[in-house]
Amino acid sequence: ETRVLVVGEPAEADPAIEEAAELLRRGLPVAFPTETVYGLGADCTRADAVARIYEAKNRPHDNPVIVHVAEVAQLDAFCLDLDERVALLAEAFWPGPLTLVLKARPPLHQTVGRGLDTVGIRVPNHPVAVALIAKSGLGIAAPSANISGKPSPTKAKHVFNDLNGRIPLILDGGPCSVGIESTVLDVSGPRPAILRPGWVTGRQLDKVLGVRVQRHGEVGQEKRSPGTRYRHYSPDAPLLLLGPDLSDDDFRMLQSCFLASQGAKLGYIGRRDDAVDSRTLYMRYAADELNRFTKDLYLNLRAMDEEGVTHIIADGFEEEGHGRSLMDRLRRASTSVLLRRNDVIAICNC
Ligand code: TXA
Ligand code: MG
Repeated sequence: ETRVLVVGEPAEADPAIEEAAELLRRGLPVAFPTETVYGLGADCTRADAVARIYEAKNRPHDNPVIVHVAEVAQLDAFCLDLDERVALLAEAFWPGPLTLVLKARPPLHQTVGRGLDTVGIRVPNHPVAVALIAKSGLGIAAPSANISGKPSPTKAKHVFNDLNGRIPLILDGGPCSVGIESTVLDVSGPRPAILRPGWVTGRQLDKVLGVRVQRHGEVGQEKRSPGTRYRHYSPDAPLLLLGPDLSDDDFRMLQSCFLASQGAKLGYIGRRDDAVDSRTLYMRYAADELNRFTKDLYLNLRAMDEEGVTHIIADGFEEEGHGRSLMDRLRRASTSVLLRRNDVIAICNC
């Protein structure tokens, strides 16, 4: 029932863009690619249009959505109190995977801010997204285009699997190049704060702003960013996240303990190359393949459900730089986090 249109190059010349823009102007939702994940878009100034994206993806009503614009000049239409920091950040990171939380210009605090007085906004780095924004002439409100709670979609077919029959159109612009959602940085107050870690790191932000921005976890972000309250990105199979200190022996103990039960099939995402087993689906990444690991993370979680694995084990990362954003996503996808050998023994005994 949902149509999927592949967008050719150059995107702005493809008739699919005009068709999608027309749907948006009529207040209907359209899914489109960005460099991070696929988004489910609607006219950000229309309450009825925005309501349709909440309904389609079954999103909790208090969780605000971010607005996508094609260029910095469009900010004025949606935000108040733009200052020097915004200019510096836009220059350094846009188009790209950084969302800025700014004071909202009415009516945005109601439509997308869900009662907050702020709006999250970014310029995506994807030709299809930019062409769609430009052609529609709108700011496009867009959360990730998954059913709430599922891993975010990084391919058009993931959107189709989640939302078929619930939205009229998906624009297919190929796989997303980054693979996890944007960094959300609150610059609506005097002290910049990361509300959600992402591909743009704290250290990169510090450098551009010349101050140390507050890191995710230092800010009580549950209050300030409703989305971080929810468990997220979850595959159907329970996922055990292993802290960076667990040894290969610990891993093997877990593996044999899970595989001991009838019909068990294990999924593994990580760096270990031993313990290969015919009932373990292996997704292996060397320590220096962080980009590829990130790009494939949600795709792998979805693939494991499709393959019918009964348990997933994932290796964790040191909480530094990109490792911090990956751990945020993995932790929120996980059912438990095992830090010490005793945690492994406890799981195996129950
Ligand atoms: O990369 C991305 O950001 C993708 C693509 C489609 O652009 N979008 C995305 O949207 O991940 P969503 O809705 O799945 O996540 C947006 C996050 C949520 O955690 C939400 O709570 C937070 O940003 N957020 C949005 N507006 C906010 C605001 N005004 N204040 C605080 N947090 C906000
Ligand atoms: Mg999301």
